[in-house]
Amino acid sequence: MQNYDAILERLRTEISRADDGTAALQGTVRVLKESLPSYTWVGVYLLHGNELVLGPYAGRPSPHTRIPMGRGICGAAAAERATIIVDDVNADPRYLACSVDTRSEIVVPIMEGGDVLGEIDVDSDLPAAFGPADRALLERTAAMLAPRLGAGNDR
Ligand code: SME
Repeated sequence: MQNYDAILERLRTEISRADDGTAALQGTVRVLKESLPSYTWVGVYLLHGNELVLGPYAGRPSPHTRIPMGRGICGAAAAERATIIVDDVNADPRYLACSVDTRSEIVVPIMEGGDVLGEIDVDSDLPAAFGPADRALLERTAAMLAPRLGAGNDR
């Protein structure tokens, strides 16, 4: 069992001390990947127009650097403005494969007001790797990132 409170505190420090939004995202993906061994790939997509564009990530390069709104699990979470947890990606017809080893995924929108700014995407090589503690950690992280990415920042 990981200490999610300690990880959240580390993220809070990392995000508040970052020089700009990009540095905040880089710090976030690094801390999440380092802290949670089941998180095989951690990345952030930013919404530009009607497309999600891959920003900082930790893990192997993904073929999906641009995802249209509504496509894949990433596009579905952005369109629904809600977190999506998929316990078995191979059973989900929306899934866009990033790695053949991936078994489960969580996508958490980064929201400001009612607008989606982007999202945190985490893949795991373990089936059903993401539970309520992961959802809470990543939703709180998304809420801390939003003010660093919204209007008036370097997005
Ligand atoms: N699996 C995602 C695509 C992004 S990769 O996981 C990095 C999806 O279905 O939208």
